[in-house]
Amino acid sequence: MTQDSTSRRRTAEQLISVGRADELPPGSMKEAIHLGRSIVVANIEGTYVAFQNSCLHYGVKLSDGTLDGDVVTCRWHQWRYCPLTGEVLAEESPYETLTTFTVHVRDGELLAEREPKTRIRPRQECK
Ligand code: FES
Repeated sequence: MTQDSTSRRRTAEQLISVGRADELPPGSMKEAIHLGRSIVVANIEGTYVAFQNSCLHYGVKLSDGTLDGDVVTCRWHQWRYCPLTGEVLAEESPYETLTTFTVHVRDGELLAEREPKTRIRPRQECK
C-alpha cells in the first residue's frame, strides 16, 4: 500500500457522509445522522456547514427552525445561532457556542468531519 492510499483511507475514515450536495440548495438545511446523533446540515450561500440539532435552550430540533442568510432561528423561543461559527446570538443564553462540524464536498457527497470544529462552551462568568 502506498503512502498516498494510506492517507486517503485515513481521511475517509475521519469523514461521515451526511447527504448529497444537490439535495441541499443554498438557503436550505436538513437533518442528518452523524455517529448516531442528529445534526443539521445547511447550505449557507454555497458553504456547507453542520451543527448539533438541539437548541441550547430546551433542546428543540434546530432543523425545524428557519435559516435566513447565516442565522438559524429556533422555532420555539427564537434563540438565534450562527452556523458558520457556532456562535449563540441569544443574549440570554448561558452558552457562547454550539457544536459544529466542518463539511467537505467530494464528488457531490457531503462529508462531515468526525471531530467537532467547535464544542458547546458556556459563557465566561465575570468575577
Ligand atoms: S427551545 Fe429553542 S429557543 Fe427555546
